[in-house]
Amino acid sequence: MTIKAIVFDAYGTLYDVQSVASATEAAFPGHGEYITQVWRQKQLEYSWLRSLMGRYEDFRAVTRDSLNYTLSTIGLQADATLLDRIVDAYNTLSPYPETEQALGLLGDYRLAILSNGSPDMLDALVRNSGLDRYLEAVISVDAKRAYKPDPRTYELVQERLGVEPEAVAFVSSNGFDVAGAKSFGFKVARIERVTPAALRQELAGGGPIGPATTFRALRTQPEALGFTPDAVVGSLLALPDLISSLG
Ligand code: LAC
Repeated sequence: MTIKAIVFDAYGTLYDVQSVASATEAAFPGHGEYITQVWRQKQLEYSWLRSLMGRYEDFRAVTRDSLNYTLSTIGLQADATLLDRIVDAYNTLSPYPETEQALGLLGDYRLAILSNGSPDMLDALVRNSGLDRYLEAVISVDAKRAYKPDPRTYELVQERLGVEPEAVAFVSSNGFDVAGAKSFGFKVARIERVTPAALRQELAGGGPIGPATTFRALRTQPEALGFTPDAVVGSLLALPDLISSLG
C-alpha cells in the first residue's frame, strides 16, 4: 500500500535529548554528563513502569520524577523551582542538524509526530524550534493515558489522521519504539544514530565504561525482540528516497 503519512518519534529522532546537557551542567557543575544519561534512561523506565502499573502521570511528571531520582543517586537535591527549570530544557531541545531540511523535502506526505511527550511539552517544543510549520499534527500519547510501546498509543495515528497503519511510515531511533511500531503494523524506518561498529569500538577501549557509553549500549541499538524495521538509515535525509520503496 502506498505510504500516505510519515509519523515521527520526537525525542531522540527529530530532537536531540542530549541537548539538555547544558542545563544539567549549569545547574550541577561537574555532574551534567552523569545526570543527562541516567535521567533519560530512568525517564523511559518510569514511562513503562507507570503504563504497566496502570498509574499514568503525564510525561512532564515522569520527566521531573526521573530527574529527582537521578539527583538522589548522587546525593544532590533541587527544590521545585530548580527541578522545573531543568525540566523546561525539554521545551527547547535542539533538532538534529538535518531535521528541518528533511521535513522540508517530505512535503508530499502528511507529516506528524507521535510522542510520549505531554501536549504542553510538545506544543512548546515544536513552536520553539519552528518545526510546527512542517507538521500537520502533533499527537501526544496522553489521550490514551499510556506510553509507547503500548499498542493503544499507536492507534492514535489512525484516529487523528484517518490513515490505516499499512499506509504509515513510522520513523524512530528508539529501539523500543521501532519494535512497538513494527509489532503494531506500521511500516518502520529506523534512524541509526550510533552504528553497532561505532559502539563496539567505544566498548573495546578496555577502560571504565561511562554513563554515556552505557546509555548508547542500552538505547541506541536494535532491540532483540523479533520485530525488525523495514529499513535502517543513518540520517533523516535518507527518507525522501526511501519512503516510496516502503509502500
Ligand atoms: C518520544 C520518546 C519515545 O518522543 O522518545 O515519544
